[in-house]
Amino acid sequence: MGGSNPYIEKPVTKRPQKPFQIRFENMNKTIVVPPDYPIFGTGLPGSLLDIALSFGVDIDHACGGVCACSTCHVYVKQGQKSCSQSTDNENDMLDLAPDVKPNSRLACQCVPNGEEDLVIEIPSWNRNLAREGK
Ligand code: FES
Repeated sequence: MGGSNPYIEKPVTKRPQKPFQIRFENMNKTIVVPPDYPIFGTGLPGSLLDIALSFGVDIDHACGGVCACSTCHVYVKQGQKSCSQSTDNENDMLDLAPDVKPNSRLACQCVPNGEEDLVIEIPSWNRNLAREGK
């Protein structure tokens, strides 16, 4: 299951104009994202979740990326300025997540514009897929 929720507010997003890197810190994996990366179709187009899945990086996403579960909670440790602003819907859902920090985002709602490289941490309680991952 995957997609995006047509009934919630969408952030303003911009496609990357150049390649950029995303380092998934505690998975010890770095991907280089070209501006024409394929859209996987889970979460908002071009979201961290969408990019991660299309590059073989598993992030839990119980609701399929429609901003309804918070299992895709991640910390954006570097590159926050290049990410779309969080919407009220995302913030409401993050309120339900444990261990929320100022740099918390829902990977399915956070869309980077590629102007900065990113460093992402998946919270320790949310690493089932990372541990069991391929
Ligand atoms: S996958 Fe459910 S809120 Fe992101």
